Amino acid sequence: MSKIAATDFGYAPSRHATPDPRASANAQAYPQSLLDLPPGEARKSLLAVHEILSAKLPANKLSIYEAGGGSTSFLPVNILKRAHVTVVDIDADQIRNNDYAQTKILGDIQTYRFQPGSFDLVICYNVVEHLADVEAALLRFCECLKKNGLILIGAPNPNSLSGIVTKYTPHWFHVWFYRQVRGDMDAGKPGEAPFPTFFHPLVSPSNLAAFAKAHGLEVIYRREYESPRFPEMRARKPVLAALVDAAASVVNFLLLGRTDVRQGDYHAILRKR
Ligand SMILES: C[S@@+](CC[C@H](N)C(=O)[O-])C[C@H]1O[C@@H](n2cnc3c(N)ncnc32)[C@H](O)[C@@H]1O
Repeated sequence: MSKIAATDFGYAPSRHATPDPRASANAQAYPQSLLDLPPGEARKSLLAVHEILSAKLPANKLSIYEAGGGSTSFLPVNILKRAHVTVVDIDADQIRNNDYAQTKILGDIQTYRFQPGSFDLVICYNVVEHLADVEAALLRFCECLKKNGLILIGAPNPNSLSGIVTKYTPHWFHVWFYRQVRGDMDAGKPGEAPFPTFFHPLVSPSNLAAFAKAHGLEVIYRREYESPRFPEMRARKPVLAALVDAAASVVNFLLLGRTDVRQGDYHAILRKR
């Protein structure tokens, strides 16, 4: 049995939940961002990403660039422990709240340049959808990466139901959704998600794969998966979730099963040849 299938730990993001006896062991092994994900496809894909990073990155000290890192890391604990992390973020509050990077830079990842060959890994997680010029950011990432270095992108899938709704609804609706449906009453305050979105064409996983091919990057992992918003909604707002699930099933049927519009997010790992 694979390590991923065997990893069945609890989900208790609520501060009032009963403590899970496995919690402290899990906290040693997994970042809080992963433990906060509801069990499901998102968590499985992130665990697969962790396995690939652990297998492909050099075993010694690592140099990591978190582009738009904010204050949350999705990297495995064992990798963070042996890394020098440089975070660049455009938001001063996010930089202030970041407690895992050794170097913190207030800047724009579309224009910020490092010496070529500086990093083993560039991670850009939940960020590309907020950029007006994704190509500029990706070109900066390629430039600062070492040969065989990796880029990890985590992003919403613009071709999914949640991607389309996010793209075509105003920012106040995103804040309302975070507060009323996800229960995050700090949403929209300074330095807190959600952040305004642009959805540049390169956010689409197929366009990103084409960009990678044209720029000497190999796609070593790509997975579209059910957005964690679905299991969250099923637990918190079952009636709304049933309506959204039904709408997704109708659209999937009309699309003749060619795609699953619930696959609202994706991971991609690109390797510099
Ligand atoms: C949704 S948050 C994601 C933060 C973190 N990666 C995570 O997954 O929790 C998006 C982050 O991107 C940052 N950001 C947006 N546009 C940026 C830009 N042009 N340059 C640098 N950071 C940017 C925001 O300030 C914010 O911290």
